[in-house]
Amino acid sequence: MAEIILGIESSCDDTSAAVLRDGVLLSNVIASQQVHKDYGGVVPELASRAHEQNIVPVVSQALVKAGVTVEDLTAIAFTRGPGLLGSLLVGTSFAKALSLSLDVPMVMVNHLQGHILAPFIREEGVAVREPSFPFLCLLVSGGNSQIVRVNSPLDFEILGQTIDDAVGEAFDKCAKMMGLGYPGGPVIDRLAKLGNPERFHFAMPNIPGLDYSFSGVKTSLLYRVRDEMERDPQFLENNKEDICASFQKTLIDILLKKLIRASRETGIREITIGGGVSANSGLRERIAQEGKKRHWNTYLPAFKFTTDNAAMIAIAGAFRYRAGERAPLDIAPVSRIADF
Ligand code: KG4
Repeated sequence: MAEIILGIESSCDDTSAAVLRDGVLLSNVIASQQVHKDYGGVVPELASRAHEQNIVPVVSQALVKAGVTVEDLTAIAFTRGPGLLGSLLVGTSFAKALSLSLDVPMVMVNHLQGHILAPFIREEGVAVREPSFPFLCLLVSGGNSQIVRVNSPLDFEILGQTIDDAVGEAFDKCAKMMGLGYPGGPVIDRLAKLGNPERFHFAMPNIPGLDYSFSGVKTSLLYRVRDEMERDPQFLENNKEDICASFQKTLIDILLKKLIRASRETGIREITIGGGVSANSGLRERIAQEGKKRHWNTYLPAFKFTTDNAAMIAIAGAFRYRAGERAPLDIAPVSRIADF
């Protein structure tokens, strides 16, 4: 009998459901919430309410698109955390209700492991290259910046992580400060393509080991813009492409410096990236370049799997289901997960 997994993701501001049959993706429906645009960031209470409205139609659509019914399901994989508690609660409660009513087992998934395992999502007619274990994943999103050693689909080890802001947060906060809108990463990415990355220099952190820090570079940009604006109120408007290109280059330099070191120290040359910031064109280009130079096997996720989606939750859940894991019905979501 076919293994049919329904994945449910609701950790932040995207409600998503996906169906996998024997590891092959049949559908991946995502409802992105527009309600936060006016606030310059995700408003947790509004996110929970939007998830409540979206969850039933999104899951229904995913099943219809996949051509399956709830009776066909082998297991339900859902995001337990980390994320916004109210948002997670909607997906978790929905998964529980479905599991109880259908008598189908549930599997809980760590959202970050979903991002890391995204390269294993298979699609009909699309050739995929899967990394072999162990591999290193540079996990970069709005909430995390980590280098993770992945020993198996169930065994993860954090080698380094940010001690303050996540890199996505640095993109978003600086874009907001420059009046470029939210989320800032894609806007900076677009403007950076038009600018000179060598024009401005921002502070590089000096953090021991494989950990990251992004608060210094953010402050460095803030002070530079403030000082220049005192001299020339048009400074930002006239130089925003160069500022974005230089700022983005600094963030990528910081990310790559530690990733190169992690590869050297572990001897691992299988390198993947994951999380929202892995959509950044400058980062993808640099990883590919460094990979060539250093004889890495690099794996860049398809754009549609870089941001939050339930396909990655379904594949991570499939690995756990096959390993015999089951989530109890009294399982509660968690906003933070200290370790993997
Ligand atoms: O993984 P994700 O979708 O959500 C969570 O962090 O939960 O990541 C969102 C982050 C945001 O900070 C956004 O600005 C960033 O990913 N991002 C980008 C790009 N696309 C999204 N950052 C840089 N360049 C991009 N093209």
